[in-house]
Amino acid sequence: MHPGFGCASVGNSSSKLADCMATPAQRFTPAQRRLHWLMALLVAIAYVLIEQRGLFSRGSVGRTFMMQGHFWTGLTIFGLACWRLLIRRRHGAPPVTPALDRWNALAAITLHVALYLFFLVQPLLGLATAWSDGKAVLIPFTSIPLPALLAENKDLAHTLEYLHVTIGNLFYWVIGIHVLAALWHHLIRKDNTLKRML
Ligand code: HEM
Ligand code: HEM
Repeated sequence: MHPGFGCASVGNSSSKLADCMATPAQRFTPAQRRLHWLMALLVAIAYVLIEQRGLFSRGSVGRTFMMQGHFWTGLTIFGLACWRLLIRRRHGAPPVTPALDRWNALAAITLHVALYLFFLVQPLLGLATAWSDGKAVLIPFTSIPLPALLAENKDLAHTLEYLHVTIGNLFYWVIGIHVLAALWHHLIRKDNTLKRML
């Protein structure tokens, strides 16, 4: 399908099909919208679980739940990002009306590429941090660890954790800018950017 021409919510009668082939989609496909909001929620959960782990003492069940919850929420984000990128490649994005000037369009693309890279790089860095630090990533609701693909190495763990934490902190800002940009589009520029994602 041509990028930007989505037919996911259109029925299958031939006239509707003809309409759908001719009219640029007004919104992201239902799958794209669902994935966007689900992943936004999962990113928030991944942050809350790790930032609030101090509520429980080391070695307690609560602490293990927070840590393992952080690991698996992050790994789910990675998996969903791969799926989302495939859908994005197939369906593209519906056009913004009125169209953005060159610099705004470039800023939007840069921000979106950064967010997609974050979905892929941050969980892998986290996984490498956990393994090199000798932390087990347990199969949920069991005490069976995933086989570690990295040997324990505290120096490496230190460097990877530094990168993982720095990227985590940096993306509070990037995500904040993304949300503000969405509000700017909706409330000030009054275009259809946000409506396409609702
Ligand atoms: C998008 C997904 C992720 C985000 C946004 C994220 C974010 C963060 C942040 C902000 C911290 C630092 C918390 C602090 O000390 O203040 C952290 C720590 C950590 N994360 Fe992640 N993370 C993600 C995925 C993962 C994954 C998939 C794993 C492992 C499978 C992981 C393993 C770790 C580990 C081991 C730490 C250090 C925790 C400690 O030593 O107590 N992260 N993460
Ligand atoms: C209240 C919170 C949020 C709002 C209002 C919001 C709004 C939007 C809107 C309107 C778009 C379409 C932008 C465009 O096509 O120019 C979008 C796209 C996107 N959002 Fe969000 N978003 C929110 C939270 C998040 C979070 C937490 C993340 C991830 C950490 C995220 C990741 C993305 C990505 C990767 C895209 C690009 C979609 C694509 O073009 O394939 N969003 N968001």
